[in-house]
Amino acid sequence: MSEHAEAKATAPLFNPLSPDFIRDPYPHYDLLRRVDPVHITPHGMYLVSRHAEVSGVVRDKRFGKDFVERSTRRYGPKIMDEPIFRSMSHWMLQQDPPDHTRLRGLVVKAFTARRVEDMRPRIQEIVDQTLDRVIPNGHMDLIEDFAFRLPVTIICDMLGIPEEHREVFYTGSRDGGRILDPVPLSPQEIANGNATYMMSQMYFQQLFELRRKQPGDDLTTQLVQAEEDGSKLTNEELTSNIILLFGAGHETTVNLIGNGLLALHRNPDQLALLKAKPELITNAIEEFLRYDSSVQMTGRVALEDIDDLAGKKIPKGESVLCLLGSANRDPAVYPDSPDRLDITRPNVRPLSFGGGIHFCLGAQLARIEAEVAISTLLRRLPELRLDDAENPEWRPTFVLRGLKRLPASW
Ligand code: HEM
Repeated sequence: MSEHAEAKATAPLFNPLSPDFIRDPYPHYDLLRRVDPVHITPHGMYLVSRHAEVSGVVRDKRFGKDFVERSTRRYGPKIMDEPIFRSMSHWMLQQDPPDHTRLRGLVVKAFTARRVEDMRPRIQEIVDQTLDRVIPNGHMDLIEDFAFRLPVTIICDMLGIPEEHREVFYTGSRDGGRILDPVPLSPQEIANGNATYMMSQMYFQQLFELRRKQPGDDLTTQLVQAEEDGSKLTNEELTSNIILLFGAGHETTVNLIGNGLLALHRNPDQLALLKAKPELITNAIEEFLRYDSSVQMTGRVALEDIDDLAGKKIPKGESVLCLLGSANRDPAVYPDSPDRLDITRPNVRPLSFGGGIHFCLGAQLARIEAEVAISTLLRRLPELRLDDAENPEWRPTFVLRGLKRLPASW
């Protein structure tokens, strides 16, 4: 066996931060689904890659979140003294019922299909203003200059962040995603996470004061009032969940727009089809979500001993990593070439928004934002071309999959 072949044969099946994996995780998923669909990682976690098990686990009440137990197992008991971990432990995303039900119930009304559909004119206005600014230049970075502004502006609107405070969010760092990856953080990464969290906490405490004095028609006012009420949420829960909403509300959507635009331009027949038939946009967005999801994984913990998950036993307390990006390419569900982008594909039901009680709160909002952004871009800049569609620069994170930049000209 050549050295290269030997290295390949002994390489771990799951090395999600390796450059090769970040560039193209899909051949790795294919191998996992075929060879070991419930694979135990070097860090002792159960990695689930087929659609049937991923879809089952995210909805199964025998699995929960148990963030504190999971983190202390991985890092030791002192980890909960770290501000960033303490804050994450209060996210609704990391809670089991009844706390999850209580926290989600406080904000769910702002995300109903009706409320979000009402935001469409505002979304269109932001996209048009963004394009008005860049069109005279003849080139832009589709991530920084285009995809980024929309979700940030919308989540600032929803949280009641005043216009004059927003510039820092438009120019802020997008390096927080590493904390979600299933590879332990180094002490330096934990320190960086703490520093970013403390800055956000300081800002949001000021915003809470402002909204106590000047209530508005926004989520922050709603949550501040719930906190004052006493029994509905604590001050720590308030801060943590506002930070969650802010983060979840933009990074993921920026990447849906970016990954979708890259996929389209790498498949010129599909790009031409969408330009010719703009009414395909709704199905195209589902296909972009399926084809290259901006969230690749979500996690659960076994709340009891599980006797049989695709032939494996999972002891109580063990972590299960659900590979959403792999489930979306499972030929068992998409027999017609799952690795092909097809914006007319029937019955696309991506698992990119997770499932069960944690199903993404912002799913419909993200869909509409991506729909308006991509269809407006194709309509207003039909000549747009990517400068380098073959070797784009990916962000070095696994769970949040997205591009660092995507330069384009017209
Ligand atoms: C393409 C864009 C997005 C993707 C792919 C995405 C994906 C996800 C996933 C996979 C989960 C976890 C589901 C689970 O564990 O079963 C989730 C939860 C969540 N998402 Fe999103 N998301 C997106 C956009 C948004 C937006 C725009 C918002 C808010 C403005 C948002 C807010 C949330 C919240 C609050 C949760 C936690 C819900 C809970 O625990 O009950 N997301 N999202």
